[in-house]
Amino acid sequence: MDIAIDLGSCRTRIFAEKKGKVLDEASVAAYNVITNEIIAVGDEAYAMIGKTPDSICAVCPIENSVISQSNLIEDTINIMLKHVYTSKLVMPRVVAAIPGDITEVEKRAVVNAISSFGVRRVYLIENTKAAAMGSGADIISPHGTMVANIGGGTTNIAVLSLGGVAVSKTVKVGGNRMDNEIIKYLKNKYSLIIGNPMAEKCKRAIGCVFPQEGEAYFRAKGRDAVGGLPRYVDISTNELLRVLIEPAMEIVSAIKDVLESAPPELVGDIYTDGITLTGGLSNLKGFPELISKNTGLKVFVANKPEDCVINGCGMAIQYIADVEKKISNDINPLMAAY
Ligand SMILES: Nc1ncnc2c1ncn2[C@@H]1O[C@H](COP(=O)(O)OP(=O)(O)OP(=O)(O)O)[C@@H](O)[C@H]1O
Ligand SMILES: [Mg+2]
Repeated sequence: MDIAIDLGSCRTRIFAEKKGKVLDEASVAAYNVITNEIIAVGDEAYAMIGKTPDSICAVCPIENSVISQSNLIEDTINIMLKHVYTSKLVMPRVVAAIPGDITEVEKRAVVNAISSFGVRRVYLIENTKAAAMGSGADIISPHGTMVANIGGGTTNIAVLSLGGVAVSKTVKVGGNRMDNEIIKYLKNKYSLIIGNPMAEKCKRAIGCVFPQEGEAYFRAKGRDAVGGLPRYVDISTNELLRVLIEPAMEIVSAIKDVLESAPPELVGDIYTDGITLTGGLSNLKGFPELISKNTGLKVFVANKPEDCVINGCGMAIQYIADVEKKISNDINPLMAAY
């Protein structure tokens, strides 16, 4: 059984051949700072953020889609893979998603972290290619497909054609940046200190990047910055829109940059088909409307956008055989095997 992994800044997802997605957990590890022993990983560790005693630290070892703490990520991947891969006889081959603009050193870090589990080989795939495949797009035909994968740490945008990336751009803007903007806003405006999980809850509950009908409120609970006592603030949809629009516009401008540098023939295809949004943050209300208004193009959110990359990685497992047999295949989305 071969597997695929999407190591995201927020979520780690694992796909098993013939089964589909078998794991979807927060990319968080909690460890003892004195012994360095891992206490929990995934959603269990995420629930500990901001609630740990001094001796325990709960952190995300992936920042802006690249590994920032390699020792922690190895342990995290090992624990997660052990949950889903129980065969002791055969080592799996693994397809892993990586951002397009990643350096060789960063690529190596991904490969080493996965290899530490004892795998036969690691194959890499650019996450925009995986996202497009997972959204159901045909990336092999001589036809331009534009995808924007809006995740937690980064947004990866690409125009694909004939199995390759014609133009692409990555910006370090995603859901985490929005959460941080909410934290900053509440602190500056209301002297209320909240943690990242509360900011994320607020964004998911009432966040939007385009004016919505009706007004909803979210009760953000935290600590008073001056007095230190527990307090809350009720924040409205419109107020939050003003906070989230700036990072959202950075994503829009990156999309426009990609459109401006795409070959004219491919732009024609995109004009006909529109742009597909994938990634968890494309669930945020108003993204299609905002991008459509600023580009004049049709914009669609893929079905289950957060799963497109992992599903695309899973689909790419079928190309491993060609790489192994050294069959030269221009449409093979997989990059060098390690
Ligand atoms: N329904 C929703 N409404 C608003 N935001 C959402 C929703 N669902 C997920 N998100 C946000 O999407 C982000 C996670 O997206 P995703 O799982 O694609 O990221 P990732 O793959 O872990 O990160 P990256 O690809 O950037 O490394 C988080 O910021 C999360 O809060
Ligand atoms: Mg992702």
